[in-house]
Amino acid sequence: MVQTDAEFNLDMVAIETAITDKTKAIIINSPNNPTGQIYSQESLNELGALLDKKGAELQTTIYLLADEPYRKIIFDNNVVGSVLQSTTNSIVLSSYSKDLSLPGERIGYLAVHPDITDKGALLDAMTLANRILGFVNAPALMQRVVAELQDASVDNSIYEKRCETFCKILADAGFDFIPPKGAFYIFPKSPIEDDVKFCAILQEEKILAVPGRGFGAPGYIRLAFCVDDSVIAGSADAFKRAMSKTKTL
Ligand SMILES: Cc1ncc(COP(=O)(O)O)c(C=O)c1O
Repeated sequence: MVQTDAEFNLDMVAIETAITDKTKAIIINSPNNPTGQIYSQESLNELGALLDKKGAELQTTIYLLADEPYRKIIFDNNVVGSVLQSTTNSIVLSSYSKDLSLPGERIGYLAVHPDITDKGALLDAMTLANRILGFVNAPALMQRVVAELQDASVDNSIYEKRCETFCKILADAGFDFIPPKGAFYIFPKSPIEDDVKFCAILQEEKILAVPGRGFGAPGYIRLAFCVDDSVIAGSADAFKRAMSKTKTL
């Protein structure tokens, strides 16, 4: 795993340093869970060029995999870049569980660049993996349903409004965070160093948060806003109470 920069953007130097002759692929996720960051087309182009350059240097192919279940959940007219435009050795993976609100259906797709290296072997491997992992086979009926829903999406304005409300609540309570550009998560700094301990304090206030260390980022917490508006609005005082508890530790 490679750390991002302070604003959760891709850090090309860190990525380049992490690549070795054993590197087969890099997986990125944009819009991002847990940060809500979106990688621009420029940064994806830079990453694609870097992988092509390193691949040539190391005489190997380094594939770029983009995990994009939140592609349609974006705020303020932000634009999600496309890895398929950044390198021929790119694959997009997606799921309908977020943009059609179908969690649990385990249905999505892979889109492989038409000119990808070793295309035949890759497609054979994907077919075999799908057969072996029988439990991730999407239900046949839903496969027909989603085929008709390619232009459909959940109503973004609902998430956008929740995001706005949530950001205001967190800012009022004194949290330090970067407002998300998409997906439905906020990744504030924990007000105390120990993110697990702070999640326990939040739990006393009936707020469920995930410690950042689970995402390789200790000192942060992940909050999700895929909950009812009333739950978000009702959390304001609890966040303030949790924050004031940290002052007396
Ligand atoms: C970044 C990312 N990728 C993939 C998934 C998996 O989605 P599902 O298994 O519901 O299709 C999730 C779900 O939380 C996610 O956040």
